[in-house]
Amino acid sequence: MIISLVNQKGGVGKTTIAINLAYALAQGGKRVLLIDTDRQGSVMQWKKLDQHNHFDVIHHPQTDLAQQVKEITKGYLHTVIDAPPAVGDMIRSVLLVSNLAIIPVSPSPLDIWSAREMVHLLQELKKQRRNLSGRMLICRKIVGTRVGREVREALENYQMDIFQTEIHQRIAYVEAMIAGMPVMAYAPQSEAGQEIKSLCAELLL
Ligand SMILES: Nc1ncnc2c1ncn2[C@@H]1O[C@H](COP(=O)(O)OP(=O)(O)OP(=O)(O)O)[C@@H](O)[C@H]1O
Ligand SMILES: [Mg+2]
Repeated sequence: MIISLVNQKGGVGKTTIAINLAYALAQGGKRVLLIDTDRQGSVMQWKKLDQHNHFDVIHHPQTDLAQQVKEITKGYLHTVIDAPPAVGDMIRSVLLVSNLAIIPVSPSPLDIWSAREMVHLLQELKKQRRNLSGRMLICRKIVGTRVGREVREALENYQMDIFQTEIHQRIAYVEAMIAGMPVMAYAPQSEAGQEIKSLCAELLL
């Protein structure tokens, strides 16, 4: 399965989810590839710290994925694609090779409004690629806040699937990143580790 993390809004947690999800998918020795399509190469920066090599990582900020994807993903059970914060040719290229596009949205009206553009692009590209589906993921939610509780209702206006699993704002994500580790390896019993596990299980259902 090819799973991409897309949202033109910066800083919603695409790269954090991509790294952690790739690790969760690789549990049990499954071969997983993470493609960093962002010119900034944030995943590549993280990879320099990673000493465990649970999954492979490549940097591919070119828009030729449709032509290259078969060759690049050969031998991998799952591929995760981290996309840059922009709507343009790169995102189109990513969506047109994906089976599942995850749109992480943080619980702020500005983020919820700006997701509209990505939802529309996804709907447009679904006409060209039938085996593409999209799901929203509530991300960076602050525990115990009213806006946090209301976000699901606000997102329902988009008439798109929303993951039951929610990713909260947690320091463990940042600490794990600093340590060059996925959060499930850094703090397996933490709530952050548990929510990534739950996201992975929900996605594979
Ligand atoms: N759930 C979380 N809890 C705490 N911090 C988080 C969480 N998710 C992301 N962050 C932090 O927020 C910042 C932005 O996250 P990240 O780089 O994953 O977002 P992004 O959507 O990939 O950004 P960009 O659009 O710039 O590529 C990072 O410093 C990251 O450590
Ligand atoms: Mg990123």
